[in-house]
Amino acid sequence: MYCENINLIFFSPTGTTKRIIEAIGNGFNNRNLNRIDLTLPDARQHTFQSKKEDLLVIAVPVYMGRIPLLLSDWFKEFTANETPTIAVVVYGNRAYENALLELSDILTSCGCRVIGAAAFIGEHSFSSKEFPSSVGRPDQTDLKQAYYFGNLLDNLIDSFDHSNEIPSIDLPGVRPYGGVTDLWHLDFIDRNDRCTNCGLCIDNCPTGAINKSDSASIDINRCTLCCACIKYCPMEAKSIKQGPMKEAALRCTKFTERKNPEIFLPDSKRR
Ligand SMILES: Cc1cc2nc3c(=O)[nH]c(=O)nc-3n(C[C@H](O)[C@H](O)[C@H](O)COP(=O)(O)O)c2cc1C
Repeated sequence: MYCENINLIFFSPTGTTKRIIEAIGNGFNNRNLNRIDLTLPDARQHTFQSKKEDLLVIAVPVYMGRIPLLLSDWFKEFTANETPTIAVVVYGNRAYENALLELSDILTSCGCRVIGAAAFIGEHSFSSKEFPSSVGRPDQTDLKQAYYFGNLLDNLIDSFDHSNEIPSIDLPGVRPYGGVTDLWHLDFIDRNDRCTNCGLCIDNCPTGAINKSDSASIDINRCTLCCACIKYCPMEAKSIKQGPMKEAALRCTKFTERKNPEIFLPDSKRR
């Protein structure tokens, strides 16, 4: 089965998922790479219909062991036609729980044929100098594994004549997925006087939650706690306030044992 076009579809508020999916894409040889970045609100207004002869790679971060709820509307409109698809989640070195299974189930219900799946590790969204967790991930070792994963799939895809020959993949996780998808609605971002009103936090907010004329004012009902506003600030003017989010950030620092990427292929065991 020759797939000339590869669509890299991702949601990545703080950029780690994007780095992983780019490395996976680089593992493919002589194919056209097309990127669909769902991070900003306007991009999620456009639906996507994939063709049978395309290959999709879809990568999202893990939020509370699940996939981010704000993508559910986009997935409701998304349709595939037995399109071979690679499902990827990126998590902050705690756990991905049922997220990969959930993503694979959603993709299958949209008409995808999941040919490979993987869980990678990224720096935790809540990580800071004060509360570091999985700092610098994905690092060179992770990116090499992502590249290797892409390369493996590059060869595997050609070994099938038709996508309906792809056997199902056994993924970790349980149904119903459980956990929490409706995240806290919290006023948790502090802004100090280093802020120059450059607007980068406003431009990078995945839900348009930051007031365009006052970056200190955040609509807590739209905020998804992604921390992009903190991570993209060149002046380090934003941080997590005292309270439940700071406590959550502290808890994340306890997961110090390095987790490694996990790769799942049809009829294969974990690698
Ligand atoms: C609201 C929220 C919930 C999260 N839940 C988890 C989790 O359950 N397990 C985990 O290991 N990391 C969790 N993370 C961390 C992210 O999955 C991780 O940092 C990921 O690399 C972020 O991707 P991005 O850089 O593409 O935004 C969470 C992050 C946020 C913002």
